[in-house]
Amino acid sequence: MDDDIYDPAYVAALFDRCSARYRWWSAVSSFGFIWLWRRQCVGRLTGQQSIARIADSQVVRPAPHIPQIVDLMAGTGEVWPHLLAAIPRAQITAIDISSQMHDDAMTRLHANRSGQISHICANALENTLPEESADLVISTFGLKTFHADQQAQLAAKIASILRPGGSFSLIEASDPKEWALRPFYRLYLDVLLPLLERTFLQGAKDFSMIGTYTRNFGDCAVMADALAAQGLRVTRKSHFFGCATSVAGTKPIAPDAPAP
Ligand SMILES: C[S@@+](CC[C@H](N)C(=O)[O-])C[C@H]1O[C@@H](n2cnc3c(N)ncnc32)[C@H](O)[C@@H]1O
Repeated sequence: MDDDIYDPAYVAALFDRCSARYRWWSAVSSFGFIWLWRRQCVGRLTGQQSIARIADSQVVRPAPHIPQIVDLMAGTGEVWPHLLAAIPRAQITAIDISSQMHDDAMTRLHANRSGQISHICANALENTLPEESADLVISTFGLKTFHADQQAQLAAKIASILRPGGSFSLIEASDPKEWALRPFYRLYLDVLLPLLERTFLQGAKDFSMIGTYTRNFGDCAVMADALAAQGLRVTRKSHFFGCATSVAGTKPIAPDAPAP
């Protein structure tokens, strides 16, 4: 029987096998684009720290506050340098289902940042972080291993953990259906990368799964609709002819007023 490639146990085992080479392989196989796309994803977060609130007829200054960021499907923490460059005081809660990606992130790759990061090894669809506990939620390249129903579950989680006024930004490798050079791109993902992986990584077929996952994922449209259905404000963006797509937005401070 075929494996269920959306089964969390399957996904966790896949990334456990990829972890040691993940940083290197993702950078090289994307020709460095993945670094740029992570930075662009961070750039789509919007800060709303200085919103004045009124209590007892007085404007209340916001208390000094350490920004709380949740990094979903954090993997080996490749987005953390970008996040901490943008928001140096941030505290990051990182969630990932792969224990091996988690171990590599904390012990090998980011030991010097451990004071600002807490890492939860868990299924992001099941983990219950406190409601309205995050100022910002980010996810880089962690959506494609979810089918549409799972994306809807994830959207509900994001809406629940974000504070009102908080912002989210998610980016994923996508299938650039409108791009004239798509046949070459597909050839690269579906044929060349698997060949390189089999040749150089002792017959492995793990990183090559990106071809199947991106083809099935399409782009961030389904996730954007799921987030909007949770009452979040949403904008989509295409990166490099649609080879990646992102969805970003905010949780409204007050619900939209009914139309007059
Ligand atoms: C392609 S990696 C992306 C890692 C990192 N965010 C980056 O920018 O490179 C996808 C990660 O999502 C994690 N993942 C997949 N499904 C998950 C789930 N249900 N819950 C938590 N993590 C999950 C995998 O273990 C893997 O580390």
